[in-house]
Amino acid sequence: MRDDFRGITALVTGASKGLGRAYALELARRGARVILLARSEGDLRELAAQIREHHGRPAADAAAGDPAGRDAGAVVERLAAPDAEVIVGDLAAPDGPERILRELRDRGLTVDLLLNNAGMGSAGPFLGRPLEPQLLSVGLNVSGLLALTHAIGNELVARGTGGIINVSSTAAFQPMPYQASYAATKAFVLSFTEALAEELRGTGVHVMAAHPGAIATGFFDGTTATIDPRAADTPARIAANTLDDYARRRAVSYPGRALNRALTWPARLLPRTAVVRVAGRFNRWLRMHEVVDLPQ
Ligand SMILES: NC(=O)c1ccc[n+]([C@@H]2O[C@H](COP(=O)([O-])OP(=O)(O)OC[C@H]3O[C@@H](n4cnc5c(N)ncnc54)[C@H](OP(=O)(O)O)[C@@H]3O)[C@@H](O)[C@H]2O)c1
Repeated sequence: MRDDFRGITALVTGASKGLGRAYALELARRGARVILLARSEGDLRELAAQIREHHGRPAADAAAGDPAGRDAGAVVERLAAPDAEVIVGDLAAPDGPERILRELRDRGLTVDLLLNNAGMGSAGPFLGRPLEPQLLSVGLNVSGLLALTHAIGNELVARGTGGIINVSSTAAFQPMPYQASYAATKAFVLSFTEALAEELRGTGVHVMAAHPGAIATGFFDGTTATIDPRAADTPARIAANTLDDYARRRAVSYPGRALNRALTWPARLLPRTAVVRVAGRFNRWLRMHEVVDLPQ
């Protein structure tokens, strides 16, 4: 399973922390070269250094045995050595995706696996919370994901190989009062990814959506909302399970605990009016209707 990623180049969005950081580490552990993308340059550079230190191999070692470095085995080894590139970019900015794509081209970086992980979302009553972060969330979770998928997807299809993983959420399966705009963006990712996977069937390009439930990350940082660690999976477990599912060429991944997957079924079977009431009651029980920003 692990060897499926050896020698490929994976672009991980939102790699500076949380789940994206775990994806980058797991991909490097499995032998991939990773391109780390987010806005926080310091965190990305620290992660790149960690990956090079723990998973990279100095070129001199790789070429050992052939001083000219022309030995076929040595060259393959050197290409296979995990490495990390950093791209600092804002996927929610109107020109953000185009700048990122230009930088990939300028640096001669060819992506084999696009892992659209970066995401954000507002919690609390829609009308009582500021609009701007919710618009940014649509820009990041929807527009940024679409732009990268369109450009890199076309390159992958032209080469007839590679793949795309879009990180959605179990929040995608039902409307979520008090996380209304966030759940709607994830429903978009779910629908879009399933449709694209069908369009690309037979092209050699594999497309998969991943639907984690709660993960122990700083997703709600800066607000009074919290993630109960007892009900949350670790980012490392979600990353490993997602990549295993991708390696098995699954169309969809439920990388979290089994209950998360089971909870997506009632939403598919019951009337939507009933589903949205239950979801609202659940989020009120989590005090999501009272969420406010913490003082900075
Ligand atoms: N945590 C959960 O319970 C949970 C559950 C289900 C699904 N998910 C999904 O999992 C994914 C990762 O979430 P997480 O929990 O790891 O969140 P997180 O800890 O808040 O990390 C979000 C990542 O996205 C990056 N990002 C935010 N805005 C960006 C922008 N405008 N341009 C580029 N990068 C940006 C952040 O880096 P910078 O700030 O440095 O840009 C960070 O690396 C998201 O798609 C989320 O919806 C999370």
